[in-house]
Amino acid sequence: MTDLKGALIGCGFFAVNQMHAWNDVEGARIVAICDRDPERLKTVGDQFGIERRYSDAEALFSDGRFDFVDIATTVQSHRPLVELAARHKIAAICQKPFAKSLADAKAMVEACQNAGIPLMVHENFRWQAPIQAVRKALEENAIGVPFWGRFSFRSGYDVFSGQPYLAAQDRFIIEDLGIHTLDIARYILGDVRAVTARTKRVNPKIKGEDVATILLDHQSGATSIVDVSYVTKLSREPFPETLIELDGSDGTIRLTPGYQLEVTNARGTHTLDVSPKLLSWASRPWHNIQESVYAIQQHWVDQLKRGGEHSTSGADNLKTFALVEAAYDSAAGHLTVDVEAMLR
Ligand SMILES: NC(=O)c1ccc[n+]([C@@H]2O[C@H](COP(=O)([O-])OP(=O)(O)OC[C@H]3O[C@@H](n4cnc5c(N)ncnc54)[C@H](O)[C@@H]3O)[C@@H](O)[C@H]2O)c1
Repeated sequence: MTDLKGALIGCGFFAVNQMHAWNDVEGARIVAICDRDPERLKTVGDQFGIERRYSDAEALFSDGRFDFVDIATTVQSHRPLVELAARHKIAAICQKPFAKSLADAKAMVEACQNAGIPLMVHENFRWQAPIQAVRKALEENAIGVPFWGRFSFRSGYDVFSGQPYLAAQDRFIIEDLGIHTLDIARYILGDVRAVTARTKRVNPKIKGEDVATILLDHQSGATSIVDVSYVTKLSREPFPETLIELDGSDGTIRLTPGYQLEVTNARGTHTLDVSPKLLSWASRPWHNIQESVYAIQQHWVDQLKRGGEHSTSGADNLKTFALVEAAYDSAAGHLTVDVEAMLR
């Protein structure tokens, strides 16, 4: 079977990871790129040897000759670009956060369904090797039925150095980072009925919140806490590790710093090193995220070829995105938000 041809829109900070990963993915290659910033277009085009370059997405789609589009721009452009892909009936990947609002995200899913094209959100965190290892342990029934969980990302890493636009956003940590942690909570403990959240801004130099504590009532009856912070100074900086605690009817799972997976059950306690691979183009500490970028993009191609549903399809991601909106609504109104009602 010949390789699928892809076009990438948005040649910024994170897209470089996606371009490296496309080089490694089997069954697809990038044939065209687009960015309205000529300097970024040239830098990425030269680095990855891409001849077809566009400053305008309409022109890219009019020229066609590709099978899918990878939208790696920031959130403001996601809805118009996904709708453009739908009009041209081109399968689309869209970076997270999926949209500016749940209403926009629902409209994007509907546009792609009506056009009959696959849509996947580039929600890569669940594809991290340590997260996959936690899921596998649960599937192997290592701790029985989980009834409680904690999904934690607490860091003092200067995320603004690579992504300065984050400091100016009204909504910061839940929309940018917590969205991943909430997706992991769903992936591990299932869909959510209700959300209760509290937020705080500690760093006075930024506009949005940089601390959030979110309580999730899962449909299974389990309860979990998603806690995220970008102002937590620890003796050992854990960025970008998500730490997990799970209590089940027959044991416990702990994903601890340094990618150690500890499982305790009737057979005793077993610790496994679940460190991500350091890919040839990756660099620490980002290698965990970089490996997951490769994994999700390989999954995109594999499922496209076999006509299967993507793990983080647009429809799936509505259920993660609803948790983001619910968390902001809950924090603003000091109330518990019914997530199922938001999705109806
Ligand atoms: N999953 C992760 O781990 C992760 C990490 C970082 C960023 N991200 C996400 O990646 C996305 C991009 O973030 P970034 O930090 O690379 O942003 P960035 O600002 O560095 O890059 C975005 C690029 O898109 C271009 N662009 C924007 N709108 C366009 C349009 N309509 N047509 C053509 N080009 C357009 C800009 O000129 C810019 O070069 C964000 O949504 C962010 O949340 C994900």
